[in-house]
Amino acid sequence: MRLRKEHGVKEKLEEYKDLVVFLEESKKMKFEGLFNNDNPIKAEFGIGKGRFIIEMAKRNPDINYIGIELRDQVLLKAVKKADDEKIANVKFLVANIENITDIFEENSLDGLYLNFSDPWPKKRHFKRRLTYREFISKYNVILKEDSWIRFKTDNISLFQFTLNELAELRVIMKEISLDVHEDDGFVDNIMTEYEEKFSKKGNKIMSVTFMPHR
Ligand SMILES: C[S@@+](CC[C@H](N)C(=O)[O-])C[C@H]1O[C@@H](n2cnc3c(N)ncnc32)[C@H](O)[C@@H]1O
Repeated sequence: MRLRKEHGVKEKLEEYKDLVVFLEESKKMKFEGLFNNDNPIKAEFGIGKGRFIIEMAKRNPDINYIGIELRDQVLLKAVKKADDEKIANVKFLVANIENITDIFEENSLDGLYLNFSDPWPKKRHFKRRLTYREFISKYNVILKEDSWIRFKTDNISLFQFTLNELAELRVIMKEISLDVHEDDGFVDNIMTEYEEKFSKKGNKIMSVTFMPHR
């Protein structure tokens, strides 16, 4: 997603105090008072313009959601959408997933979504893929026991890489789909922005749901 660098994005994000979390340096995210309830908290990493997480929040008012995105300019689009639609059970944070164990406490999340993560096709960049084993090990730390991660992509190489990482880590997998849009198990599927773009080109959408290793 190419965007011309916009100035003052941080200041614009600061206008949405109810929706955007700003962490103090070297402080982790505090859940007390964040949503004013004890409902489960699920996250999406790399939300892009936020269509998925906002729709999840609308469909599941008894679950809280946290959307994380590296690029503040992109996140601002998601924040504006959530503000327009007056969604109360979603919060947003600008962060690099590399630092995720500095952001969340151990055993704090109830589920995680990774949608159309950047494929990093060059072999020498494989450690940047969000399903590289070191990332999965970090997710293991911050997720509560028995919680699931769902990964979706149209990228065959990234899907294969991910399955191999999961096999290497001996994680428990369930619900592997090679064609989410034709699969009965995915009737409630929410199309992300990238999913719409790539499925229009005729690409099949694949998914795996797994529990990180313990
Ligand atoms: C290909 S886009 C997919 C966006 C959205 N999930 C969708 O399916 O439409 C990947 C997104 O992940 C973000 N991203 C990539 N690496 C990241 C990282 N290390 N930390 C946080 N976000 C990241 C990118 O900025 C981009 O917005």
